[in-house]
Amino acid sequence: MPSDESITRAAEWLASARRVLVSTGAGMSRESGIPTFRDALEGLWAQYDPQELATERGFRKNPRRVWSWYAARRRRIAEAVPHAGYHALVEMEARLPSLTIVTQNIDGLHALAGSRDVVELHGSIRRAKCLDRHHPWPGPVPDDGAEESDPPPCPVCGSPLRPDVVWFGEMLPEAAVERAWRLAEECDVLLLVGTSGTVWPAAELPAVAARAGARVIEVNPEPSELNHLAAAYLQGAAGAVLPRLAAALTERRMGDG
Ligand code: APR
Repeated sequence: MPSDESITRAAEWLASARRVLVSTGAGMSRESGIPTFRDALEGLWAQYDPQELATERGFRKNPRRVWSWYAARRRRIAEAVPHAGYHALVEMEARLPSLTIVTQNIDGLHALAGSRDVVELHGSIRRAKCLDRHHPWPGPVPDDGAEESDPPPCPVCGSPLRPDVVWFGEMLPEAAVERAWRLAEECDVLLLVGTSGTVWPAAELPAVAARAGARVIEVNPEPSELNHLAAAYLQGAAGAVLPRLAAALTERRMGDG
């Protein structure tokens, strides 16, 4: 567990920042019970190659299988509730002049917790679009509740629906990338939470921020690949460390006023 001194020092950095960027990965959602992409390839699904489940080629080959795998993940995510670490980020956003979350997660938990400014780099499992022309499906993703089913057709062009997530080999959404990279260059503090730092291009953000002079704070039970960039390493789970950080920020602010 990080010492009170290290928490207080990190809270000082946050409090004096004009802009804070929070970059989150799969570890952020662990304590809400959401398996990572790799964890989700367990049981029945363990026999499939990730490339068959998370690529356009795999979808075209077997749309029923891929659609059903995402339906199973979506149902699990629908039951998840944001843990205390999520609420701590909502509190920090309310207290600081500018805080944006850039997430690699597709579960939508930041918005569900109440965070307002969230950039989703890898899309969202809560949305669908059509395969061929990317027409967005309006509203909640249809689910007939069956263990296996075919993707419904797009109401506009008839092409099958697919999850609106970024698959291997696909470009990240342009507007999200532009905003994330600009914020990384402009932020004073980058708070890196629950990411292994191995998936590009998201893993580049902390280096962009550090090069531009920002302080990087890492929250992770295990040091990530990007730990060398961290000016402070708060070793621990998001659900334990972030509430302490938010509390220290609140105390400090109250002390100010
Ligand atoms: N709190 C904070 N961090 C945690 C916790 C926790 N409770 N539990 C685990 N972690 C950390 C792990 O130590 C690890 O560093 O979360 C990280 C999870 O790493 P990955 O599973 O590699 O997740 P991520 O960095 O988000 O990359 C996954 O790859 O599958 C693709 O596109 C998909 O966005 C996804 C990306």
